[in-house]
Amino acid sequence: MDIDEILEKVADAVEPHRGGGKVADYIPALASIDPDKFGLAIATKDGACHKIGDADECFSIQSISKVFTFSLALQKVGDGLWKRVGREPSGSAFNSIIQLEHEKGIPRNPLINAGAIVVTDHLVENGDADATIEMLLRVLRDHAEDQSVDIDYEVAKSESETGARNRSLAHFMASFGNLDNEVEVVLSAYFRHCALALSCSQLARAALFLAFDGKDPVTGERILTPQRCRRINAVMMSCGHYDNSGDFAFRIGLPGKSGVGGGVLAIVPGEGAVAVWSPGLNDAGTSTVGSIALEALVAETGWSVFG
Ligand code: DON
Repeated sequence: MDIDEILEKVADAVEPHRGGGKVADYIPALASIDPDKFGLAIATKDGACHKIGDADECFSIQSISKVFTFSLALQKVGDGLWKRVGREPSGSAFNSIIQLEHEKGIPRNPLINAGAIVVTDHLVENGDADATIEMLLRVLRDHAEDQSVDIDYEVAKSESETGARNRSLAHFMASFGNLDNEVEVVLSAYFRHCALALSCSQLARAALFLAFDGKDPVTGERILTPQRCRRINAVMMSCGHYDNSGDFAFRIGLPGKSGVGGGVLAIVPGEGAVAVWSPGLNDAGTSTVGSIALEALVAETGWSVFG
């Protein structure tokens, strides 16, 4: 199988759909991104990166960052994590507050906004959100083997300025005693990790360990135990696209995570990590063209975990 030839076919499949979907505008700094952008990168076991289109252009990874914070929190608190966040699909929007009251402030899973805020709370020590972000940047730079990985602080500011919904979620959870740190401290870390700006190439490389049982196949570094890695992939498969998770599993059949910046990360166990970016979104906040590209990739490669 020649991956570069397959990527040419994926590019052809995507072409008629370029610019499809609706660019997120509830975070004003994201609204001005060119909807025609499209890039895709595949990081593989041998350290190679196969790419097409705008794969080296940085974009706001938004909710895809929740995969990395989830992984760090599992490493830090282990199974204790599940006392304060569940692992069931929500069937609701990423920023929904509906289930939180019924379920007494325990969010459904670590990939919806409320769950990711609890995960971030676990990563803040001594009320120091800056230290959390420095740690996260160190980890991502190491995983990506690229010290230039950074946060887009303009996006973080824009998100904070328009963050009424996330503040509501956080205060609501605090009222049930499900936050250890002050709401603004946790959110200052949350807004910044959502504003991480990576290219498809950097993102695919940084997530490669998730395709190899928690071990980076290039450096040999063990990042997660195989069991925890499986669990992250399971939660990505069932919850990675909110109320669009079923459709994503149906069409693509890979553990994945979307972000409202238009990125999608997909993990191909035993093969590699795929990052795709195209800013137009469907109603659930998953990249429209990104999903079409992944569907074409899976059709060509047979990479669906369902065979
Ligand atoms: O908190 C938010 O609303 C954004 N920072 C992240 C949302 C997001 O990416 C949803 N994913 N598709």
